[in-house]
Order: sequence, then structure tokens, then C-alpha cells
Amino acid sequence: MNPMSKKPLVIVTRKLPEAIEARLGELFDTRLNDQDVAFDQPALAAALKQADVLVPTVTDRIDARLLSQAGPQLRLIANFGTGVDNIDVDSAMSRGITVTNTPGVLTEDTADMTMALILSVPRRLTEGAQLLRKQDGAWSGWSPTWMLGRRIWGKRLGIIGMGRIGQAVARRAKAFGLDIHYHNRKPINAAVEEELGATYWENLDDMLARVDILSINCPHTPATYHLINTQRLKLMKPEAYIVNTARGEVVDENALVRALEGGDLAGAGLDVFEQEPAVNPRLLKLDNVVALPHMSSATIEGRIEMGEKVIINIKTFMDGHKPPDRVIPAIM
Ligand code: 8YV
Repeated sequence: MNPMSKKPLVIVTRKLPEAIEARLGELFDTRLNDQDVAFDQPALAAALKQADVLVPTVTDRIDARLLSQAGPQLRLIANFGTGVDNIDVDSAMSRGITVTNTPGVLTEDTADMTMALILSVPRRLTEGAQLLRKQDGAWSGWSPTWMLGRRIWGKRLGIIGMGRIGQAVARRAKAFGLDIHYHNRKPINAAVEEELGATYWENLDDMLARVDILSINCPHTPATYHLINTQRLKLMKPEAYIVNTARGEVVDENALVRALEGGDLAGAGLDVFEQEPAVNPRLLKLDNVVALPHMSSATIEGRIEMGEKVIINIKTFMDGHKPPDRVIPAIM
């Protein structure tokens, strides 16, 4: 708490939309990151020693070791993002620090990008677009047997993680004629399942062998780390595709590269990677891979709504109430 202004000190680790930064500045004693350079671990430790509230993003790893350096004044970590795998939530809670996130507001944007990848990879969209941009006259004209992709309509989509985003993907995919299958900890509400015409697979391995496109939409937790590994990739059809807009860690990236290089998988659409911002260079050499720089939720509207959520969470907490988006590990 700033003794002069009596306002809580809020440290924001990355540049946020202007309107959000302005409002944060009105409400709190706010320290912004104008340069938008990600904090290194010493800078994060220094922030944790001073801030009453820290607003981190996916690029900040706040683990138990770092949290052990937090000052007693730190009471809230208001994550600018839905996924909280960048934060050791258990460790924060054991120190009496509340953690909040921004669920809901990036559902539709993330589902749109997932659908874009589901369409792009089998239909070779970026391959075609890149080819025309080449200056070497690579396009000699239309041919009946050239640039053939695979049909989307009528195929089976398997969704891992049928939460908000998974269901939003299913709704879009249904409109594109895909048959919806899903694996989740438990079946979704029966009415929604019926509306989507979705088939529940309790056993992931059984679903993998049957789908043409696999979409990863679950959070990264200890239970989902490398959920898709060498063994499970082997269960998939060689004509199948994988799309990941969730977290890179859910897929064993080396195993994925091997499967793609070996022709055991037809292609992949990836917005997230295991060692972000590093991307396995072998992935980028493959024509059947569409790789994006973690931009599924990157819309102006989405980022402003995420900022609004951060503000509401901080304000509610500081007013002595339970913030709406408290993260409770057991239901993650
Ligand atoms: C965010 C995301 O942009 O919210 C999430 O979980 O993956 C992203 O799309 C990012 O996490 C911001 O911290």
C-alpha cells in the first residue's frame, strides 16, 4: 500500500491496451511496463517484494521458488490470461495469496482461431498462399491434381477438453459438417451434448484411433502434461491432423515432430509450443505444419475484456469481497 496515496501498488508486467492502463492508473498506484520487455526472474522477484497486486501474463513464470521471495504485502496475483500454468497456484494459496484469471472473454476468439487451423491445415491454405508470394514463378497455372488437400466435411473431430473453448469449437465445427467426438474428465450436460450431436469417449485412447482431426482444448496441468505422447500418436491414423491452441506442454513436441517427419500424421496446426517463445526449427521446415505465434486470443476486443476482468478482480478484492475469477486448484 502506498502510504501517501493509500492506494494499493499494482505492478503490471507487460504492456496492456491503453484504456486498461489508464483505468488501472485512475484506480490504483500502478506501475506499468512501457517498454513491454518481459520481466526476467530477478525483476519478477523485485516486483513480488513490492507489489500489493501483481498482474502477470503467460510470459511470467511464477513458481514456488519465486513466491518464497514475495513480501508479506503481496495479496493478489491477478493474471492477465485464462491459463494459470505460469503460476504455482498451490504455493501462492499456501502463502495466503489469492490468484485470479480472465475466463470466458477469450473463448470465442480462441475457438475462431482453432477453427481457422482446422480448415487451414487439411486444405493447405498457408502452403498455397506462400507459394504465390514466391518470386520464382512457382505457379504455372491450375491443374486437376495439384495442391490437393483433404475434405473437412463429414470427417470426425476429436476434442480433448470440452470446457468453454472446446464447446465453442464444437459448435463451429458442427456447422462445417464435422462429426463431434470428445474426451473430458466427465461428460458434458446432456442437452448440450445432444445439441452438438457429440459422442463422449471416457477413454482417450479409444477416441484417438477414430478421429481425423484432433483439437487440444484442455488446460495444461500436471495431469495433462505430455498427454499426447509417442504412444498415443501411434494410435492415431496417419491421415489425421492435430490442432493445438491450448498449451504446448500438452503435446510431447519432439514426439510430434517425429510423427510428422515420419509420415505417421498428416499435419499439425499449432498456436502454442512447449518452450515458448522457442519453436522447434524442425516443425518450421514441414509444409504440413501451420505454426502461429500464440495469437489465438489476440483480438483488440478480447484483450480489452481481459483487462476489464483484471480490473474487476483487483477492485472487488481490494473492496474486501471475493473476486469473481478466483482460481481454485481443485476445479482447474
Ligand atoms: C493469453 C492464453 O493471451 O489466456 C490464456 O490462457 O493462452 C492466451 O491466449 C495469454 O495467456 C495472456 O497471458
